[in-house]
Amino acid sequence: MKSRATGIFEMAMIRRVTHAYEETLALAAKFAKVLKRGDMVCLFGDLGSGKTAFVKGMAQGLNIAPEHVHSPTFTLMNIYEGKVPVYHFDLYRISVADLGGLGYEEFFYGNGITVVEWSERLEELLPKDHWHVTLTHAGDDKREIRVTVQGKSLKARLAKVKL
Ligand SMILES: Nc1ncnc2c1ncn2[C@@H]1O[C@H](COP(=O)(O)OP(=O)(O)OP(=O)(O)O)[C@@H](O)[C@H]1O
Ligand SMILES: [Mg+2]
Repeated sequence: MKSRATGIFEMAMIRRVTHAYEETLALAAKFAKVLKRGDMVCLFGDLGSGKTAFVKGMAQGLNIAPEHVHSPTFTLMNIYEGKVPVYHFDLYRISVADLGGLGYEEFFYGNGITVVEWSERLEELLPKDHWHVTLTHAGDDKREIRVTVQGKSLKARLAKVKL
């Protein structure tokens, strides 16, 4: 019997291991070069896995001073003005129910690039077209970073990323 294609075959992935904080920044800065207005970057990973470091690196790649990048704690989102605006969300303390009334969706397909820490919280609300970035502790200062995408257009762009 012929096996049926499942969603998993539609995905493409890049996997790298960084060995220091600065290496994660540099990797994320290169990654950012392929991003465009309207893109959504969803970060997954435990406490201290390097999500904010990744956002700082992305910022560098988009001509935003990384020292401006901090996880929003008292606001839902920080906005950084660079080559394009970057909307930085951190959903650690936010439940999906809380998100409901906040009008956050307008940023997802908006004028800039959206990056979300703790995307685990969004679950089924995630749009299909997003950059799925998972950071995992791999011992000491090592972090495994996986970038996964679905769909023809993002796969073509992922193929151009030189990390
Ligand atoms: N290879 C590495 N890449 C990134 N960070 C590293 C690496 N090695 C060690 N670190 C350290 O891990 C920590 C990562 O912190 P960061 O705030 O980026 O994590 P986070 O995933 O955003 O955490 P949180 O869930 O609290 O938001 C920093 O203290 C950093 O110095
Ligand atoms: Mg963080």
